[in-house]
Amino acid sequence: CFSPALYDLYHRPEAVVVVIDVLRATSAICTAFMNGAKHIIPVGDLEEARAWKAKGHLVAAERDGIVLDFADFGNSPFNFTPERVQQHDIVYSTTNGTKAIHKAASAYAVAIGSYLNLSALSFWLQEQHRDVIILCAAWKDKFSLEDALFAGALSKKLLDSGLFTTICDSVHASLDLWKSAQPNVYRYILKAAQKQRLAKNGLDDVIEFCHTPDQTSIVPVLKGDRLVGETVG
Ligand code: MLT
Repeated sequence: CFSPALYDLYHRPEAVVVVIDVLRATSAICTAFMNGAKHIIPVGDLEEARAWKAKGHLVAAERDGIVLDFADFGNSPFNFTPERVQQHDIVYSTTNGTKAIHKAASAYAVAIGSYLNLSALSFWLQEQHRDVIILCAAWKDKFSLEDALFAGALSKKLLDSGLFTTICDSVHASLDLWKSAQPNVYRYILKAAQKQRLAKNGLDDVIEFCHTPDQTSIVPVLKGDRLVGETVG
C-alpha cells in the first residue's frame, strides 16, 4: 500500500501490517530500540504529545522535519542515543510515520520496518504465518520513493523465502523499483523528494545510515498503545 490514503482498500483484520517510513520515522524507531529504549508510544496528535510532556515524559516530536518547541528532541535517528533512550519510554509524534501506525492499529499485528532491521523483520514475518500488508507512510498521503523502494527490498526477501506469493501489482512495481536501484541503492535514493526536504533544513546527514541494512535484530511491534522490541533469533 503506497499511501495511507489507500489503506482502507487494503485493510484485512487478520493480516500483519508492516509500517515503513525510511526517512526517517521507522529508522528512528529501530535505532531507539537498538540503543535500549523500553517502549515507544506513538501519538498522532500534538496536543496529546504536549500532555504527555506536561506529565514528565520524554517526548520526541517533529512536523515537516522540524523539532517542536516542547519536545526533548526531534526525529533524526542520531537523536536516539543510548544516553537518552536506554530504559526509557519515549512518546513519539511525527508528520507521517506515527499517523500510519495509528491507521493500521486494528490489524492483527503491526510491526515496524526499516533497512536497519530488514533481515530480522523478514524472519519475524515468516514466523507469523499470516498475510502481510506493507504500508508506506509516504509524505502527506503522496507516494514516496524511499518507502516504495524499501517495500521492494522487503517483498523480495519474503518472496525469496518461498512462503509468500503475490498477485498485487504494487508488489510487482516495488520489486521493479528495487531492481532498477541496483547496484547502488544509496546513490539511487538521492533523487527522492524527502532527501531534498531534509537537505533544505540541514537534516539529510541520515540518508546513508537509514539505507544501511541489518544493524539490529529487533522488530518493534505494537502492543496496545505502545511499541515493544521483539528480538529475533
Ligand atoms: C515522518 O514521520 O513524516 C518523517 O519521518 C518525517 C521526518 O523526516 O522527520
